[in-house]
Amino acid sequence: MNKQSKWHYPRTDLATAYLQQLEAGLNSIAIFAERRKGKTEFLLEDLTPIAKEKGLRTAYINFWERKSDPVYCVTQGIRRSIETDSPRKWKNEFSLKLGIFQSKTTIDSNKYPEIAGEALDMLLSSKGGGVLLMFDEIQHLASDPSYEELIATLRTFLDTNKKRVRAVFTGSSQDRLNTIFRKQKAAFYRGASLVEFPDMGDDFVDFLLENFHDITKRKLQKTKGYEIFEDYNYSPFLIVDLLQTMMREAIFDLNEGLEYYRDQHDPNEEWQELWESLKQIDQLILREIIIGLLPLYHKESYALISDKLGLDKVTRGMIQSSINRLREQGILNNEGHGQWAFESTAFEGFVLSL
Ligand SMILES: Nc1ncnc2c1ncn2[C@@H]1O[C@H](COP(=O)(O)OP(=O)(O)OP(=O)(O)O)[C@@H](O)[C@H]1O
Ligand SMILES: [Mg+2]
Repeated sequence: MNKQSKWHYPRTDLATAYLQQLEAGLNSIAIFAERRKGKTEFLLEDLTPIAKEKGLRTAYINFWERKSDPVYCVTQGIRRSIETDSPRKWKNEFSLKLGIFQSKTTIDSNKYPEIAGEALDMLLSSKGGGVLLMFDEIQHLASDPSYEELIATLRTFLDTNKKRVRAVFTGSSQDRLNTIFRKQKAAFYRGASLVEFPDMGDDFVDFLLENFHDITKRKLQKTKGYEIFEDYNYSPFLIVDLLQTMMREAIFDLNEGLEYYRDQHDPNEEWQELWESLKQIDQLILREIIIGLLPLYHKESYALISDKLGLDKVTRGMIQSSINRLREQGILNNEGHGQWAFESTAFEGFVLSL
């Protein structure tokens, strides 16, 4: 057993329940929860094995694998799936179909959404059998209107193969996710049911503390463990990371461990670092224009920037490049109709507090 799975608390019942819903007729479900709540780990460690046990072929696609290229993300996800089942099939068929494309790796595959379609088709073997597609960080597809063609390709695949293909969409975009979900519903998520992703409970903390005991032979205080889990918004990430840090540092008291951990991980410090890495114009656009709700391409905004930065002239192109940089870094999301918003409300809060 590797280190990762030793710390993994199985969520078999939840995975079974979702699969039952999918079997009972739902074609797709959408699971949206806050960051670091365990969605990805759930897909990979719980849902995948159980779906496989039920005879489904599974593919996990993560749109953050390469943020600038969602088509690549699709083909990679499918490659991993097919390679585990039948390595030769992928090599032979896919490279045959797309030989020219593959040899030109520098090509922007975004321009070829049909490649994603071709790759998806390869999941459907002639023998039949169901397929479970898991799309992670799905909100990313809503971050740029140029991904619409890919969305349409994916949609067509799901619609044409309704009988055999089930999909799970997962993502987080803090509290904005719901808006995106509703807005994009017409396109991609059509028919997907939003299902709850429940927080884990005290049994999860018990499991971790037992694990800690197995490894270190030291007992930690359970009630303190529950308290920390609750205080940190039931984030499995925090408590697992805390316990692993305590193990490394040989700290065997939760109060002491938490204090040490907090010293090491000041979230404001991380935001500060990100903030300082930004160009001045990007900072200004975030703080004054996005948060200040000023129109981006407007003389009022141009004047404000030229004034603050001491520039003679501010052009539309300058603002556009800034927005592109912020989008590439996942700081801003395109909400459509020229509206931009922070991807992370935590970072927005930090900027607001400056
Ligand atoms: N079932 C679990 N058992 C043990 N630890 C877990 C479990 N689920 C999550 N974790 C811990 O929480 C961390 C974060 O989980 P994960 O990356 O799956 O969250 P996420 O919801 O996908 O976050 P994000 O939205 O940022 O992608 C994991 O790296 C792991 O340490
Ligand atoms: Mg994740």
